[in-house]
Amino acid sequence: MSEQRILILLGPPGAGKGTQASRLAAHLGLPHVATGDLFRENLSQGTALGQRAKSFMESGKLVPDELVLEMLFDRVSRPDCAGGYLLDGFPRTLPQAEALTERLAGLSVSTLSLEVPDDQLVERASGRLLCKSCSNIHHATFSPPRVAGVCDACGGELYRRKDDDPAVVRERLAVFHEQTQPMIDYYARQGSLESIDGTQSPDDVFASLLARLDAGTSAGGRA
Ligand code: AP5
Ligand code: MG
Ligand code: ZN
Repeated sequence: MSEQRILILLGPPGAGKGTQASRLAAHLGLPHVATGDLFRENLSQGTALGQRAKSFMESGKLVPDELVLEMLFDRVSRPDCAGGYLLDGFPRTLPQAEALTERLAGLSVSTLSLEVPDDQLVERASGRLLCKSCSNIHHATFSPPRVAGVCDACGGELYRRKDDDPAVVRERLAVFHEQTQPMIDYYARQGSLESIDGTQSPDDVFASLLARLDAGTSAGGRA
């Protein structure tokens, strides 16, 4: 089997990580592993993990590292990740990044960061509409569904995330600047970070990501 290829997509809440990660995953044939989606699945299934994560998520705080790490490492140990995977929303703190770096030592890793200013992030999150059935992401203004309330991809019902309330989005942004930005700076200091202008249209962001990945592949790139 060919070696594992790992992609890490970083960026603030609402930057477009989920939108781009699902396109990239389909394009590259890699599983899309999103810690936020995994927690939301646990919540909707009423698992013990979902119960423990609930209050943190609904108030816009980070779920404690030990819960995240156990869930994430369990997920990427499954057979579908044997050829690699794309991480969305992880890592988010310095201890998470250090644990991941240790685990991925020697593997081929690309770390990409979507950059979007705070004022645009509140607007993106507050207009976001998600599909209950397939997790497809719409936006009331920027990518409206053809039929109101109905997912273009599968016909499922669209809903708003509880943590997309503007007050919670502002808390998530504060948490991002306090706990996640220092971790992004850690990747930047290692010289292993590609920054992408996330304010472009979704198609242009996707093209920029692919261009950086192609450039990175030809230049090599190891953890
Ligand atoms: P998570 O689900 O990861 O949320 P997040 O990081 O806050 O990011 P979002 O999902 O809100 O945004 P996104 O970047 O995916 O943007 P999207 O593509 O949807 O985490 C939720 C919670 O879980 C956390 O708060 C925490 O409690 C917990 N958690 C998760 N991981 C954790 C971890 N590792 N450690 C600890 N706790 C963790 O796009 C947003 C909107 O903008 C959409 O409507 C979209 O249509 C629109 N849009 C996208 N791109 C564009 C564009 N280019 N132009 C215009 N609109 C666009
Ligand atoms: Mg997301
Ligand atoms: Zn759908």
